[in-house]
Amino acid sequence: MKKMLMASLALLLAGQAFAADPISQRQQVFKQYKTTVGAMGKMVKGDTPYDKEAFAKLASQLEQLSQQPWQYFPAGSDAGKTGARPEIWSKPADWQKVIDNHKAATAKLKQVAQTGDLDAIRKQFAETNQTCKACHKDFRKD
Ligand code: HEC
Repeated sequence: MKKMLMASLALLLAGQAFAADPISQRQQVFKQYKTTVGAMGKMVKGDTPYDKEAFAKLASQLEQLSQQPWQYFPAGSDAGKTGARPEIWSKPADWQKVIDNHKAATAKLKQVAQTGDLDAIRKQFAETNQTCKACHKDFRKD
């Protein structure tokens, strides 16, 4: 019993340490971005067969992911092992704009994915990727 208590206490503390670190939280979300976008890219390119349902599910996941990272950029979280540039905090309006563009693009991709029109999907997928790149160019260290 005591052992179990200690084990759950350790887990709880580990969870808190993780929760207290916004840098690893946002990097965690971006890793999911990579997996999701990677799977979509393969279908769009034809490396894996296009599957309307599967693609629509991924598009929906991406739209959910697009809501998440931004809450993990509190002021002062530009120190340590992070690719975040200080411009995130010194140019908040520009930062918000690239976030909004990105959210709009993923929302549209989610809609287009429902149609199964692969040409339109390809186009909107490319547009969405552009919004990742646009943000990385100005706000992420290489
Ligand atoms: C509004 C800005 C913005 C948008 C949009 C954005 N990113 Fe990023 N991304 C960042 C920043 C800032 C970092 C650095 C985070 C850090 O290290 O603290 C990052 C980091 C990453 C990383 C590295 C995570 C790691 O392991 O350190 C990947 C992969 C990534 N982004 C993929 C994507 C993909 C794919 C998209 C589009 C679907 C995207 N990002 C959209 C700002 C953005």
